[in-house]
Amino acid sequence: MIYLDNAATSFPKPPRVVKAFAQFCNDIGANPGRASHSLAREANAIIARTRQSLAELLGNVDPSRLIFTPSTTVALNLALKGLLRAGDHVVTTSMEHNSIMRPLHGLEKLGVSHSQVPCSPLGQLDPADIRPLIRSQTRMIALLHASNVTGNLMPVAEVGKIAREREILLLVDAAQTLGAIPVEPASLNVDLLAGPGHKGLLGPMGTGFLYVRPGLEMEPLWQGGTGTHSESFEQPGTWPERFESGTCNAPGLAALGEGIAEVKKLGLAAITAHELRLAHILSDGLGQLPGIVLYGPSDRQRCTGTLSFNLQELDCSEVAHILDRAYSIAVRSGLHCAPAAHRTIGTFPHGTVRVSIGPYNTEEEVHTLIRAVADIVRIRIRS
Ligand SMILES: Cc1ncc(COP(=O)(O)O)c(C=O)c1O
Repeated sequence: MIYLDNAATSFPKPPRVVKAFAQFCNDIGANPGRASHSLAREANAIIARTRQSLAELLGNVDPSRLIFTPSTTVALNLALKGLLRAGDHVVTTSMEHNSIMRPLHGLEKLGVSHSQVPCSPLGQLDPADIRPLIRSQTRMIALLHASNVTGNLMPVAEVGKIAREREILLLVDAAQTLGAIPVEPASLNVDLLAGPGHKGLLGPMGTGFLYVRPGLEMEPLWQGGTGTHSESFEQPGTWPERFESGTCNAPGLAALGEGIAEVKKLGLAAITAHELRLAHILSDGLGQLPGIVLYGPSDRQRCTGTLSFNLQELDCSEVAHILDRAYSIAVRSGLHCAPAAHRTIGTFPHGTVRVSIGPYNTEEEVHTLIRAVADIVRIRIRS
């Protein structure tokens, strides 16, 4: 099987990730932070190492401001619902994933309003278009770092300057950039950054995090046992346990530590170069086929290894089905949980075929995909 659905979750996971997961379950198994016996202390130390390693990857942020969550979605919900109150207004973009759009929609019922900055039909955001939407009640700008549909990188640094100048919080959804390009919240003026452990960081599913800039206070969405200050019914004020009540995904976080170590070993610059090189081969190859429409970024330096396409009147789900059944190639079709993005690029309601490259894909695999799509064009479109 050729796996080209890394934007959903990366696969395969490095052997060291799988080994760390199994090792935790087999040899450690204790609940971190809940007891003083040696297994619990070791579990605690492993998670502290993962937190420290992630903090370094994000440009040496304060590790206590990294809250582990089960996914990017949970992290985004925590940021939005932990900070926004009735009367607040949020500026977002027309390229967002439902993990920002649905919480914002839900928050409308609580009196939090939002405005969407329209992006171009190529999915590009002009930061200048944000300014007219800012009101006195605007508390936050929330946007993704790169589109999970087109691979477009958003101008987060420029947006960060606007947010800083207007004293508005900036929340970034880094689901598609972590582990693929350098992501350093401090240098981008980012106050809150949500990300997955299971995509570019090569960790297992069930891992993610929210980074919150030091000094920014926020309400926890759930309260309970943290293993600290157990004498009190009051949720502890100390970070990160204030936000990490309940037993965590300790085997997953142990394995995530190895995923981050693997990203560091491969080198972010090498990963970026590899994924972009393959994405460019892919867009050049697909772009030459008759009847194909590509929805990738026009600026080849400002993109990730993800792009979308459609084949004339063929339904995208049929194309993905043929690729899966006849060629053993795994791609994703449909709306990719981002209906707003598809309205922006003109592919709503059917969506696109999405190809997303990961660090372990090869040039040969990309050529196999191009040949397979060429076959489909010849057999289904030109016959
Ligand atoms: C841009 C974007 N944001 C958020 C998510 C949600 O990520 P998770 O599955 O970790 O909740 C995804 C997942 O595909 C995504 O692409």
